[in-house]
Amino acid sequence: MLQEKIKLINKDFSFEIKSIKDAKQLDDLRVKYFSKNGLVPSLFALLKEATSKEKPLLGKILNEFRTDLQNQFDNVNSQLNDIKNTNLNKLDLTLPGVISNIGSKHILTQTLDEIKFIFKGMGFSVHEGPELESDYNNFEALNFAQDHPARDMQDTFFVSDDFVLRTHTSPVQIRLMKKQKPPVRAIMPGRVYRNEAVSSRSYCMFHQVEGLYVDTDVTFAELKGTLASFAKQFYGDDLKFRFRPSFFPFTEPSAEMDITCFICKGDGCKICKQSGWLEILGCGMVDPNVFDNVGYDNEKYTGYAFGMGIERIAMLKFGITDIRVFFENDYRFLKQF
Ligand code: DAH
Repeated sequence: MLQEKIKLINKDFSFEIKSIKDAKQLDDLRVKYFSKNGLVPSLFALLKEATSKEKPLLGKILNEFRTDLQNQFDNVNSQLNDIKNTNLNKLDLTLPGVISNIGSKHILTQTLDEIKFIFKGMGFSVHEGPELESDYNNFEALNFAQDHPARDMQDTFFVSDDFVLRTHTSPVQIRLMKKQKPPVRAIMPGRVYRNEAVSSRSYCMFHQVEGLYVDTDVTFAELKGTLASFAKQFYGDDLKFRFRPSFFPFTEPSAEMDITCFICKGDGCKICKQSGWLEILGCGMVDPNVFDNVGYDNEKYTGYAFGMGIERIAMLKFGITDIRVFFENDYRFLKQF
């Protein structure tokens, strides 16, 4: 009876030990056969039932059986250890290490950080507003006529009759002026949306920084001085710039600021359409109607405003010719900054 059991267990053990491939499997085997409630100790428990005449012989057989299994186990164990050691020895410590790449801020964030730094140095604070904006703040309060083309479905993502994804950061001016009495001197960065065909020059979403300064006696000369100082700090002291008359519903007079083309340095090329100049922002003196709409006394206060696209500002600084690269997250592009 006991001898039968020994035979069966021996057969299973021999079969199982041959298929051991790693330390975990070997340990499972150890638990199954040698642990306190394992199969081998259970055989010794059966010894109690044997007659005193049988006991010495059966005991001897059992002991030999246990030693045999234990030896087989030890063999496999040392084989596994050998394999582990030779693998360790194969480690070539002269091989170059694995280089892990350190992440960095996205170039748009870096650009915005620099813009903020420059304007903070000139006394501007930073404010933000929501991307989902009322039609009133995005257009009406900014003096857009009811039939202004910018309201057209072609350009604006309407969310409902009264709400839009803001098409520019200018509505944050309205929010700020409604909340705060003059003097106000702030920049307002954020995401804006336009329903335009995606191309190298335009994207359905991009970033702008709005600027606003309102106080008594703010002049156009201050606007020019501030923006010239910004452009020189951002692009370098030898920068050439000019202001060109323009039109925006919320400023009067309005202007656009150009800087020398970064490709041809002013000689004229394809990028600047042979003009030698590239536009970097829109600006002007806040229209008295806008002051009316936010409850500012337009006899007492004057102010200037400006707005620039962060992608455009970065493209001109780094010579990037396709706006889509900012949003594709191609590592080859990102790692350059
Ligand atoms: N909101 C204008 C745009 O998206 C940019 C702009 C122009 C903002 C003139 C201003 C400004 O504050 O005075 O094109």
